[in-house]
Amino acid sequence: MRCRKCPKRAVLGMPRHNTAFCGPCLTEFVRTQVQRAIKSQAMFAPEDQILVAVSGGKDSLTLWEILLKLGYRADALYVDLGISGYSERSREKVERFTRDVAESCGAKLTIHTVKEDAGAGIKELANLVKRPTCSTCGTIKRYQFNRVAWENKYDVMATGHNLDDEAARLLGNVLQWQEEYLQKQSPTLPASVAGFSKKVKPLYRMTEREIAAYAIVNRIDYLVEECPMAKGAKMLVYKDALNRLEAESPGTKQRFYWGFLEKQKKAAASSSIAMAHLDQTTLQPCDTCSQPTTAGTCSFCRMMARAKNPTR
Ligand code: AMP
Ligand code: FES
Ligand code: ZN
Repeated sequence: MRCRKCPKRAVLGMPRHNTAFCGPCLTEFVRTQVQRAIKSQAMFAPEDQILVAVSGGKDSLTLWEILLKLGYRADALYVDLGISGYSERSREKVERFTRDVAESCGAKLTIHTVKEDAGAGIKELANLVKRPTCSTCGTIKRYQFNRVAWENKYDVMATGHNLDDEAARLLGNVLQWQEEYLQKQSPTLPASVAGFSKKVKPLYRMTEREIAAYAIVNRIDYLVEECPMAKGAKMLVYKDALNRLEAESPGTKQRFYWGFLEKQKKAAASSSIAMAHLDQTTLQPCDTCSQPTTAGTCSFCRMMARAKNPTR
């Protein structure tokens, strides 16, 4: 198979675009797609300070690398969840990338260690509050991403969610008609109230497979293993179903998710109830930590209170 842009041998076929690329042309293609995502979804401007949440996996390290190569001012945040073995190995990948690539671009890494902050890793915390590990983990990560971005005055918080993640999440939301979640499923969520930072997903145009190929071509050393905790089993089922549809009909994931974004844009334009307005009216400062919440005490503070006093 030959590259469609130059005479070199292709390293990746992309049936959804009916094309194939060699390493350098793939690199150019992916960076162009990310730039297009940033512009078309009004994610951030060249002068903005970005905080990338990095897990040590391919998506987030690739995102950090691309933003730095495109000349953006992007620092990173790693949340050490205290999952024995897995957290040490993922932290090692993040620290190595910081040393080998990011620091020479003037970027820095912040590490938040859950054990130091909460006195226990997420597995023990989940046991204490009697909730599944993954949802405990989700609450902690969302809270810390927002807190660190807000307290350190970053303009925007970026995560490595890709097209596979977003299409699977959309499928789940549609199957259960989660209208409220559907409304908020967007690659750009504005900073609607004080304490709530803007959130973006610049890889939403790229599939998992394309990102993995980019990471290999560009020698990004990432952690291949997945988190050992039962990880949103339903999401894996949705991803698998979408992969089967994609194999039958290339471009399915893209049509599904991008089509949804188009419809969402049209609906927002014709509706008088903008999402920012909704947030402003429903969010208020948490009475314990002051971060925005729809309840009196935010879900993170409620969870921490339960962990300190599990019999309540
Ligand atoms: P996941 O929910 O594991 O699929 O991760 C989605 C995104 O969240 C990743 O692409 C990262 O941007 C971010 N992320 C996940 N885990 C961590 C972590 N431990 N520390 C910082 N960012 C993370
Ligand atoms: Fe959160 Fe595995 S990454 S439970
Ligand atoms: Zn709180």
